[in-house]
Amino acid sequence: MTDSSESKAALRFSFISTAPPDPILGLTEAFLADQRSDKMNLSVGVYKDASGQTPVLECVKEAERRLLENEKTKGYLPIDGSPEYRKAVQRMVFGETVASDRISTLQSPGGTGALRVAASFLTSQMPPLKVWASNPTWANHHAVFESEGLPVESYRYLAADRTTLDFEGMIEDLTTKAQPGDAILLHACCHNPTGVDPSTDQWVSIAKVLSDRGLLPLIDFAYQGFGHGIREDARSIEAILRQNSEAIVCNSFSKNFGLYGERVGAISVVAGDAAAAGAVQSQLKRLVRSNYSNPPRHGGAIVATILGCEDLTAQWESELAAMRDRIKLLREQFVSTMKTTGNGHDFGFLLDQCGMFSFSGLNKMQVDQLKADHGIYIVGSGRINVAGMQESKMSAFCSAVAQVLEG
Ligand code: LMR
Repeated sequence: MTDSSESKAALRFSFISTAPPDPILGLTEAFLADQRSDKMNLSVGVYKDASGQTPVLECVKEAERRLLENEKTKGYLPIDGSPEYRKAVQRMVFGETVASDRISTLQSPGGTGALRVAASFLTSQMPPLKVWASNPTWANHHAVFESEGLPVESYRYLAADRTTLDFEGMIEDLTTKAQPGDAILLHACCHNPTGVDPSTDQWVSIAKVLSDRGLLPLIDFAYQGFGHGIREDARSIEAILRQNSEAIVCNSFSKNFGLYGERVGAISVVAGDAAAAGAVQSQLKRLVRSNYSNPPRHGGAIVATILGCEDLTAQWESELAAMRDRIKLLREQFVSTMKTTGNGHDFGFLLDQCGMFSFSGLNKMQVDQLKADHGIYIVGSGRINVAGMQESKMSAFCSAVAQVLEG
């Protein structure tokens, strides 16, 4: 390369401005660079055990041993993923609610990958529409849909007390603001970032509004089994599908199988009949082929192996229940420690919330102070990853929270 062609190439990239760090994963980057030994990372949604590790589940290790012995190839998967995996996803997400020939399921790289495929599907196959997301919602939702050119609006979700659901506001927005054909993004359980979920009766009412208004349910199901149980957490989806014949469900096995970095998820489009589901499948495959071509094998093979063997399924269910129960205990311990070490601050509302996250009510300034003064990282919205708390660090955490609350 000559000097002049080098300088032209340099000029091209010198116009690029630096992007802001990701509101969630960027905090882990900052956390890793933090030299303090008593630092705590309660930002990104990963489960940690009492020693602060994100463990590989025993059922996963056993499935990997079996895979290692029996795996015959590392060849490409089909564009839509492994048939065994896709069947396992459908059983887990939908149970007996919908006939499988009406569901088009594709294995995807994580739940985020599934959402992005859903976004491409909406832009390429539906008439122009808006996506409506709860306010607040997962920090990446807007970016995923906006990246495909979809306008994203917000419907009311959290009440003024910032700890409970504004059910009337939500229904009013879905009824009066969203237009027929718009997609309504819903968190099936363990709402991220608030931990506030509608009740079963409220889901029935939400399902009716979706159906009456001709709105498309677009469901993010990233925490199945972290709320009340595997089937219990799918009741929202069942309620919606009882009254709506079409829906899109994006699910993830990052949390419930602890397979975060393996990127294992799926998109399932429920259609009115088998012919429509077949056409949808063909279009989804086309979108995937021009994006990441076909999904990674390993994580999906682990899930399919576990869900395909009774002994491993039972082991997984008990490991998942242990994580779920421990998160509940951590909530209780946090609330009671705030009463003692945390100067009596009342966080009792955390006990009514479920899943990995809760909204602490801390404002941006207090969140920044927690990081600067105590090396404690939580998301800017005040979201705490309860599943990342540790019993041995609870007192230190609670006294830091009390200090920032008291200014
Ligand atoms: C989170 O919300 O922290 C997780 O879902 C991880 C992520 O990708 O943001």
